[in-house]
Parts: sequence; C-alpha cells; structure tokens
Amino acid sequence: MTINRREFLAGSAVSLAQAAAVPARAAAASQSMADVPYERKDPRIAFIGVGGRGTSLLKNILAADGKVVAICDIAEGHATRAQKLVAAANQPSPELYTRGDHDYERLVQRDDVDLVIVATPWIWHAPMAVASMEHGKHVCIEVPGVRTLEECWQIVHTSEKTRRHCTMLENCCYGYNETLVLRMAQQGKFGDLLWGEGAYLHDLREELFSNAGEGLWRRTEHTLRNGNLYPTHGLGPVANYMGINRGDSFGYIVSMSTIERGFSEYRKEHVPAGDPKWQERYKEGDFNISLIKTAKGRTITVKHDTSNPMVYSRVNTIAGTNGLFMDYPPRIYFDGQAGGEAWTTLDGFKSFEHPLWSKMGDIAKKLGGHGGMDFIMLYRLLERFRNGEAPDMDVYDAASWASVGPLSINSVAQGSAPQNFPEFLPGGGKNRKESPVGQ
Ligand SMILES: NC(=O)c1ccc[n+]([C@@H]2O[C@H](COP(=O)([O-])OP(=O)(O)OC[C@H]3O[C@@H](n4cnc5c(N)ncnc54)[C@H](O)[C@@H]3O)[C@@H](O)[C@H]2O)c1
Repeated sequence: MTINRREFLAGSAVSLAQAAAVPARAAAASQSMADVPYERKDPRIAFIGVGGRGTSLLKNILAADGKVVAICDIAEGHATRAQKLVAAANQPSPELYTRGDHDYERLVQRDDVDLVIVATPWIWHAPMAVASMEHGKHVCIEVPGVRTLEECWQIVHTSEKTRRHCTMLENCCYGYNETLVLRMAQQGKFGDLLWGEGAYLHDLREELFSNAGEGLWRRTEHTLRNGNLYPTHGLGPVANYMGINRGDSFGYIVSMSTIERGFSEYRKEHVPAGDPKWQERYKEGDFNISLIKTAKGRTITVKHDTSNPMVYSRVNTIAGTNGLFMDYPPRIYFDGQAGGEAWTTLDGFKSFEHPLWSKMGDIAKKLGGHGGMDFIMLYRLLERFRNGEAPDMDVYDAASWASVGPLSINSVAQGSAPQNFPEFLPGGGKNRKESPVGQ
C-alpha cells in the first residue's frame, strides 16, 4: 500500500503546522543531483584526515588501484605515514598539507584532484565537503556525515549548485549480509516491507577515554548533545531495504534517551583526580532509541549506545508480510517454512549473494576493514566513477540519514515530540529506481 504525503500527514500524529520548524529548501533551488553520473574517468584522489579511519580507507583505495595525489592532516606524522603507504604502492609521492586546521583550503584548490575523501572529526565534515565541491571536486564524507540540519541543507544546496556529488561512506551498506538481504528485499522475498531496526551498540569507553585518536575529540560530542549521535551504520542498510529516497521517504521521528551513567562510572574507575576530563559533564544519555515513520507507513527503530558494556551489534532487521531477517546472529524466517516457526540460517539463500562479494570477497576479507565491507564499498565507488555511473548513495541519502542526529536531539529536548524530516529530495524520489547497491 502506498499513501501520498497529504494522506500520510493527515493520518499521522504530526502535521506540518505542529512540527518543529525545520530549515527548508532554499528558494532558488537548483536541479536535482539524483542519478547524475560521475564523469567517466579514473579519479585522482585526495585525502583529508588520515588518522585511524582515513589510513584504513587509504589502504583499501590503494588495493583497488586508486590514484592518490594529495594528503592533508594536521598531525604531520599521520600525513607522512600515509605518504609512505602511497609510495609503497608504487605511486608518485603525494603532496602533503599539514599547516593546521584550515590547510585543506589549499588542498581543494589543486586542479589535479577529482575526488576528496574526508575522514576527520565530525565538526569538519561539512566545511570540508562544501569547500571541496565549491572547488569543483566530488567528495565522500565519513559517517555520521554532518551534525546539524543547517549542514544537511548546506551539502544538498552546494551539491546541486556545483553539480558535484557529496556522498557518505556508509560502509555497512556493503556488508555481506546487508547486500544479500538487500537483494532479497528488492526481489520481493519478504513481501511488502513493514518494519526495520538498526543500531549502533558498541562499547567505545576505552577508545573514547584514551588520549589519542577518537579520544581527542569524540567524547566532547557527548558533552554537547543528547540524541542519536551515530545513526547511520544501522540505518543506512535498512533505508536501502525500504527504498528510502527511491519510492519511500522518512516522514517523522520521535526519540528518547536514558539518563547518563556509563561515562561517569568509567571516569570514576579509570581517570585520576585532577585530569581535565573531570571538568566534563556528559549530556548524552547512555541509550537513545528513535522511531521513524516513513511516508509509506513503515517504521524503523534506531538505537545508539557507546557508553556501556555490551556485545557489538547493528541489529540489522527487516520484516515484511512474508517473513523477516534479523542479524547478530544472522537468522531468517519465512511464512510456511519447513520445520515450522523457527529461525534458519542464511545458508539456504546463497543464491542472493551480491556479485561483488562473489567476485571480490576473498580479497576483501584478506584486506580486513570490517570483515571486507570497506574494500567492497571503495571498489564499488571507484567502479561507478570509472564507468561513468551515478554513485550508489547520493547527497540526499547523506542528508536524510545524517538528519536523524539533529532531529533525534530536537525530539529528546522536546519531550520526544515528533519532528518532521525535511524534504531534501523533492517528492522523496517517488519515481526513482531502487538502490543500485543491490545490483
Ligand atoms: N565507517 C566506519 O566504519 C568508521 C570507523 C571509524 C571511524 N569512522 C569515522 O571516520 C572519521 C574519522 O575518525 P577516526 O577514527 O579516523 O578519528 P581519528 O581521530 O583517528 O582521525 C582523525 C584524523 O583527522 C585529523 N584532523 C583533525 N582535524 C583536522 C583538520 N582540520 N584538517 C586535517 N586533518 C584533521 C587528525 O589529526 C586525525 O589524523 C569520523 O567521522 C568517524 O566517525 C568511521
């Protein structure tokens, strides 16, 4: 069943009049970037941020024979480490940009860069993406994309104005299970889709309290905001299953956070008195749960907890009128299945394996990078670029997935009041084909 936006709003708990004001599309909007192909070429790539994540992305890009011409990082040691990796791949030594927080502004002025990959702390994603596009480069930003609704609109408007793509590197959309289940969903195996669940449940206490890497900046995010700070690993794959921005779209969200305990308890146990970390006050509740209603009347639950002991999970669930898939561990059930109402494994569904995993799975797993999904994502990105095809995920996916962060924060602050999603892609892409990730 599909309902139009008017029917949806009339029947929903929230109307546009009731909803909190959200910044809307600029009046002088330009043409959509949906399904716009990359110009067909082997892109010359620059990296901004080569810490933990950027270095891992760089290794995978080099393994996919990507050409890297420039590297920027405020930590000179990180930049030179990356430079050595490029040289070891028998490529000319890339030029380094290490003169402080704004040196990326020099890098984006180069005329020999086609694609910029941004893997810096979150506050830098929007300005770096905008500067890259303004200087004629396509850009990929790391998760969770951008931090505010204003930044979501900034990347959409800049992408449309400059005709450059801004995509989010949501690697979990390329996991083995995620791509297989996406193909099953797209081929109608689950029937009409009804509900999905995604999460980021990951004990990051040790990492976020360290004096290196993400410990230098990510814990600060917990002192500033309260909501789902990192929604896209769980949400991206579910959005693809449901064809968000490709037939369906996010409608509104409600969100709730628990009290904060995890970081405070961890600090008591692990941080000596007098350490500056004792000045911090953690605003972010330990567990955030948000519920999204889509324009077609489906629901998506998104959960976040990085502050407590737990076994890693992205939950990764999709359910429809014929059956459902749940991950961690992967299990599936279909109506009328032999053996009655019991889970089975994915073993009987190997025919839905993604062709990229069949072709590149061994190399991907050997390279590592979250079980191989990082290589599959980057190989695919380069393949789409080299073939002159549109990116799998575009600026509308980046903006709508990232907007779950600020919208959940607004909802939590307003006693879980519903928040309408901005319509980043006019009409939610009603007539667009399903996500190409599944093909
Ligand atoms: N997709 C995934 O699976 C995954 C995994 C880990 C991290 N991430 C994301 O990757 C991004 C980077 O995280 P990380 O773990 O690599 O953090 P990190 O702290 O290890 O690395 C960040 C790097 O950015 C550099 N940097 C900071 N400010 C800069 C500036 N103004 N200009 C240039 N360089 C600057 C730092 O010196 C550092 O080398 C974040 O968005 C994070 O959420 C994604």
